[in-house]
Amino acid sequence: MFNDLLLKALNKEIVPRPPVWLMRQAGRYLPEYQKIRSRVGFLELCNTPELAVEVSLQPYERFKTDAVIVFSDILLPAQKMGLELEFTDEGPRINNLISNASDIKKLQIPMANEETYPTLTAINMLKKEVGEKVPIIGFSGAPWTLFCYMTEGYSSNNFNKAKTFLYTNPQASHQLLSKITNTLFLYLTMQVNSGAHVLQIFDTWAGILSQEDYRTFALPYLRQLISDLMPLKVPIILYTNNSHHLLPKISMLKIAALSLDWRCNLQEVRDNFGASLGLQGNLDPGVLLTNQTVVREKTKSMIQSLKNWQTGYICNLGHGVLPQTPVENVHAMLDTVFEIANESLVYAK
Ligand code: CP3
Repeated sequence: MFNDLLLKALNKEIVPRPPVWLMRQAGRYLPEYQKIRSRVGFLELCNTPELAVEVSLQPYERFKTDAVIVFSDILLPAQKMGLELEFTDEGPRINNLISNASDIKKLQIPMANEETYPTLTAINMLKKEVGEKVPIIGFSGAPWTLFCYMTEGYSSNNFNKAKTFLYTNPQASHQLLSKITNTLFLYLTMQVNSGAHVLQIFDTWAGILSQEDYRTFALPYLRQLISDLMPLKVPIILYTNNSHHLLPKISMLKIAALSLDWRCNLQEVRDNFGASLGLQGNLDPGVLLTNQTVVREKTKSMIQSLKNWQTGYICNLGHGVLPQTPVENVHAMLDTVFEIANESLVYAK
């Protein structure tokens, strides 16, 4: 039987318990992931469909999550556009980062097919393997977040190099954002054609922008991407981080749900922006480093923070699972959610 909790929640239908999945649910905290990673590099793992499928299914098999997210990375499209991407122990590294307008001219808008993106083959295989049982989530970064990595070259706390590029080359920045947007549109469209039931767009670095710069450089491209994807009729979840000051603008996007970090109060966001905006989140991944008692308490209080969690709400973290996370704490979080259906009288308000 198909587990339709996620699709129902995104469609604002009443559910007996919230669906639950975790950002970075496949990854280094899982011994079975470590085992595969000890013999293959991260990029090779992403680009080998059989292995990507195996890793995507690990958290589903272990925890019975209510969704399977395809294993890949938001930076792969940047590589396909022409950047030299590496993953080192310190994280991603782009060796020929964008530093002027002529670098942008050289970038491709790659055709989206299985040859360019093995992730599409992985989605296809996942669809065949579990697509009748559980929804499959495809994803990409948001144009602005990809811009950050493409002009900074590394992960950073403040992306100062990216901002300097933005402020000193506004016109070229628009060209780059536009090329990224077109690339992502083709890629996400093909993810849906390959079998993704839901798309999530990660705008991890939206929050570093002022309201004005967000309105000028991030929002128009995100809006274009989302509206171009509308005809596919697939629900879109948008993840933002540290973006309180941007919520009045973000909440106007035509998305099925907004995925928030732990700094936001879910009920406050719902009161301010209305119940037609689905919400996802927002447990601090740091909570999963504690113990099962704390995890259970914090998971319950997150759910109870919403007066009506029965519609338009998806349990998740406020950011990805941390590598040091004990597996039993992830079990504790998920089991707390799974048990709600039996206890819904206790939870109902
Ligand atoms: O959620 C999933 O299970 C699917 C896989 C997934 C990965 N990255 C795998 C990954 C997803 C959805 C992402 C998204 C991603 N990647 C984002 C947006 C979400 C966020 O976390 O903010 C960003 C900014 C990236 C870029 C990226 N990839 C960074 C900064 C790093 C290094 C930091 C780190 O966690 O290692 C990565 C590497 C990465 N992506 C790993 C995984 C499992 C670890 C790689 C390894 O196995 O060594």
